[in-house]
Amino acid sequence: MEKPSFYLESYGCQMNAAESFSVEQELKQRGWMQATDETAADLVILNTCAVRKSAEQRIHGRIGYYQHLKKSRPISLVVMGCMTERLKQELRTDFPTVNMLVGTFGKKDFIDFLARGESLEGEHDFFGHDVYEFLSAQISPGGYSAYVPIMHGCNNFCSYCIVPHVRGREISRPVADILSEIERLDSEGVREITLIGQNVNSYAGAENGGTLDFPDLLGRIEERLDSIRWIRFMSSHPKDLSPKLIERIKNSQRLCRHIHLPVQHGSTAVLKRMNRRYSREAYLSLVKEIRNAIPEVSLTTDILIGFPGETEADFEDTLRLIEEVCYDDAFTYKYNPREGTAAAEYDSQLSDEDKSARLSQLIDLQRKITEDNKRKRIGSKVEVLIEGPSRKNPEEYLGRTSRNEMVVFPKARHRKGEFGEFRLTHLAGATFKAEEV
Ligand code: SAM
Ligand code: SF4
Ligand code: F3S
Repeated sequence: MEKPSFYLESYGCQMNAAESFSVEQELKQRGWMQATDETAADLVILNTCAVRKSAEQRIHGRIGYYQHLKKSRPISLVVMGCMTERLKQELRTDFPTVNMLVGTFGKKDFIDFLARGESLEGEHDFFGHDVYEFLSAQISPGGYSAYVPIMHGCNNFCSYCIVPHVRGREISRPVADILSEIERLDSEGVREITLIGQNVNSYAGAENGGTLDFPDLLGRIEERLDSIRWIRFMSSHPKDLSPKLIERIKNSQRLCRHIHLPVQHGSTAVLKRMNRRYSREAYLSLVKEIRNAIPEVSLTTDILIGFPGETEADFEDTLRLIEEVCYDDAFTYKYNPREGTAAAEYDSQLSDEDKSARLSQLIDLQRKITEDNKRKRIGSKVEVLIEGPSRKNPEEYLGRTSRNEMVVFPKARHRKGEFGEFRLTHLAGATFKAEEV
């Protein structure tokens, strides 16, 4: 009999991407085939995101599409993750032919259910227990890079954000589990790991009756590594990025020279209403401290524009902050009210037109800064971890630097997963071109 096949669509952040990848690998190890075409799969899984309405609308459209497809062929349809957690009832009512709903805390139970080979017919929902079970980090055959979840959930309750409502409170993965997983990856020849969580630097793992903080966890990890040369982590909340962590990065050969440090806004008044728990000045002095200790570091950020009550002067503060920090890149978002969060109830919500106008001004400014920063890098010698052939041109390879810069170069004698020395020669659009040295 032919093996059953699945197709998985993933939306949202690294946490979701990592969980989706784990689900895929677990299914493959348990006899499932991964379909390359959604119309040929027996099982379709949508791993969803609830952070913005746009993502939810797109996912609604996809569920509708699969419901339609179900009329012509037997597909089991699973809706998983953050949006499922937020909209359990509505999804059941609006999409009656969805077979399974899998909440944030039910992913592990869902995998076990599939492994037991039980029938996919009928309705089964997995909302799990109160405790989040971490899915183990996976690599694909020949893979050299892995996401390692170290914590889950968030206690910060930024007033605009749905994440604490759908992912629950912070839990830190036990130190021993993280270390044994990383040792396994190291022995499998992995070259780079990314430690992930909504706020990795508030990690507090239990060990011998005490707790281990994030910088100490990094120390423990580094002691054990052989094959793994590079360690990345994300995201970092500015209020928890300690001098101890800066010192740890500075003195490490393996911690990458890139910190993603979401600022969200440049006005202290807005930051306060966002419940970010730092001021503009505190953030800028943190940036100074980081740059003094690690001058070669690359800084990137997230910015949320159009928060309720944002004045023209608040917006200007954000533009000036971007210029002052001179970020290498920024993810920029238009504020989107999420039901159940504090800010959705705030007065003076901005019009969509105003938000869009500010967002495009912000994007233009950041694009210019990004380009200027890149131009200054031309001529630099960089170490690159090679990712493989470029999709656009198979005669070219691409890779990434420790500063997380994407670099394209002529097909080298090196292979995927190896490190090489290159010189940045010029920019083609936003991409660095390089030659081997
Ligand atoms: N934990 C990370 C932090 O503290 O920055 C961010 C996680 S969140 C999944 C990713 C980004 O989505 C946030 O940094 C924020 O800029 C954006 N975001 C969150 N809520 C949003 C909302 N209601 N509307 C638009 N963007 C939002
Ligand atoms: Fe959301 Fe704030 Fe938590 Fe980040 S720190 S996940 S923005 S509540
Ligand atoms: Fe989205 Fe959930 Fe991540 S809401 S951003 S997938 S934690």
